[in-house]
Amino acid sequence: MNCTSIDIIKIGGSVVTDKSSYLKVRKENLIKICKQLENWNKPLIVVHGAGSFGHIVAEKHSIQTGFKDIVQLNGIVKIRQDMSSLTQEVVSCLIENDVKAMGFQTSALAYSKDNEVLYFLKPVEKALSLGICPILSGDVLFVEKEGFTIHSGDSIINNLVKNFSVNQVIFLTDVDGLFEKTEDENARKLVRKLSYQDLVKFQAEKMKNDVIDVTGSMQGKIEEISKLLKHVEKVVILNGLFPKRLRFILNNEDVVSTTILGEKSTQR
Ligand code: IPE
Repeated sequence: MNCTSIDIIKIGGSVVTDKSSYLKVRKENLIKICKQLENWNKPLIVVHGAGSFGHIVAEKHSIQTGFKDIVQLNGIVKIRQDMSSLTQEVVSCLIENDVKAMGFQTSALAYSKDNEVLYFLKPVEKALSLGICPILSGDVLFVEKEGFTIHSGDSIINNLVKNFSVNQVIFLTDVDGLFEKTEDENARKLVRKLSYQDLVKFQAEKMKNDVIDVTGSMQGKIEEISKLLKHVEKVVILNGLFPKRLRFILNNEDVVSTTILGEKSTQR
């Protein structure tokens, strides 16, 4: 696809919602994030996660494992309805901060067949070229044989980087970045910069996981990130609970975070 290089921001579900409380938006945090994007005029796609708007019902109805029972349909329609209202929250907040944001329903742009997810991204591409900021989200996904599954925001980004020229992917999570163990058993050190090869070797410290997440935690994220690094200049992991850091990253300035350089990056 022919398009100027874009940035992608993934707002994790734990940043935009309270993951342990069904349908609870972290409104103050969302507002602070949107303020960082005020008047941003470079091409940008925002993908938001589901948090308590998706994972709780998905787990309850085993949506991830496909269609087995008609009762699951109650779950799938509820998730779609809930994700639509979360996207609406994100879009409204961005528009209030002068971002020309428009929500796109991921489950209407994607379909899975023979282990491959097919996307129709023309509308997203056109919106971008007009100066609109497309908002996508983790969502339900219809699947040829199994009926349906859950599609994470990270998987969507994996497809976007193959179809657009992407400069950087910024993950807003609820941690400062990736940590490594130190000699002191009780201490961990934030890793500021990693090459692609470093990441392959890197063993993420197992994150405390006391809330439901049907699409995997930091370990799963590292796997998704290593796929992205084949296509982008860099991936940045950032604490979305400190939203001011986002503007630094967008301006290519140094701030508390982990940067992982793409496989073909010439940076050191
Ligand atoms: C999950 O998307 C989508 C649903 C459960 C509907 P993500 O996996 O991207 O969401 P978070 O960021 O982990 O909450």
